[in-house]
Amino acid sequence: MSAVESVRWSADGSAVDIIDQRLLPGTLVRRALRTADEVCEAIRTLAVRGAPAIGVTGAMGLVVALAPHVDEERERFLAHADELGERIARVRPTAVNLSWAVGRIRRRARETTGDARVVLEALRREATSILDEDREMCRRIGEHGLALLGDGARVLTHCNAGALATGGIGTALAPVYLAAERGRRVAVFADETRPLLQGSRLTAWELAQAGIDVTVLADNMAASLMREGSVDLVIVGADRIAANGDVANKIGTYPLALAARHHGIPFYVAAPWSTVDPATPTGDAIEIEHRSGDELGRGSEAPVSPRDVAVYNPAFDVTPAALVTAFVTDRGVLRPPYRFDDAGHAGGSPG
Ligand code: MRU
Repeated sequence: MSAVESVRWSADGSAVDIIDQRLLPGTLVRRALRTADEVCEAIRTLAVRGAPAIGVTGAMGLVVALAPHVDEERERFLAHADELGERIARVRPTAVNLSWAVGRIRRRARETTGDARVVLEALRREATSILDEDREMCRRIGEHGLALLGDGARVLTHCNAGALATGGIGTALAPVYLAAERGRRVAVFADETRPLLQGSRLTAWELAQAGIDVTVLADNMAASLMREGSVDLVIVGADRIAANGDVANKIGTYPLALAARHHGIPFYVAAPWSTVDPATPTGDAIEIEHRSGDELGRGSEAPVSPRDVAVYNPAFDVTPAALVTAFVTDRGVLRPPYRFDDAGHAGGSPG
């Protein structure tokens, strides 16, 4: 099993080398980011995305953006580190990993004694540690999560919390990769994930690359899939975990949790500690990023899922009566308990 490497140093170390995720699954293109503008643009437009991956990219990106300032005197160099760091950290507000990783680089800069050249070398080592630690955390998440996946497990996931979203083998997908590596049978249902289709474009692509059974479904099909007994567990990633355990993750995660609770299906959140934010007391305090309306209104030019990936596409679903607050009918508004078995005389208490 080999997972893709979404973020790495370029061969000569002068750039951050990323997979341009905007072009997947149609084209696999790597891009070199050398300036703060390029780093910000790549993060803003989701060329690189996923909480841990943008953290790693932000940290490495700050280092390469500082390289042209290496001949300046120390205080000036540190001022650039603060200014560029603030710019990069602000690009996406919800995933705490970005400000956390950039903050680590800025702190290391202040704590390192010596001229700008010495500081820059220390920053490069710090950014490399952030990448290596992320890779390591992914693997440990995978090891811990493995116990949750019996042989033949059918996993539903949302968005992309795989290798593309991290420096390693992913968070939500890490146990899946390890299960496959150990010869266990595992099948993944990937929510398409409107509006940017990270599930069908990215999760399906990377799992198919690794030879793992993956089926794409539209987001509105997940509850039906659960109801027909086809899902053993849900695993998603996280962008920020508040002190009380509230989880910010890709839009559409919350309804999945509601549906899973209703169907008695375990709902797991897989995330590294860099995603935990003890300074945020509850989910209400998490800043939720709002993105351009164009993302919903404009079609994508790239294919929206890989060729030859299975698709689950029923035209209708069944909502259990227990979830219906009231029926609004030509005979009035009916509230539970419902009785429609007396043809022509729908029961229930008029409300
Ligand atoms: O907007 P995105 O694609 O960056 O959102 C990504 C997610 O929501 C992921 O689930 C999350 O970052 C966890 S990544 C391991």
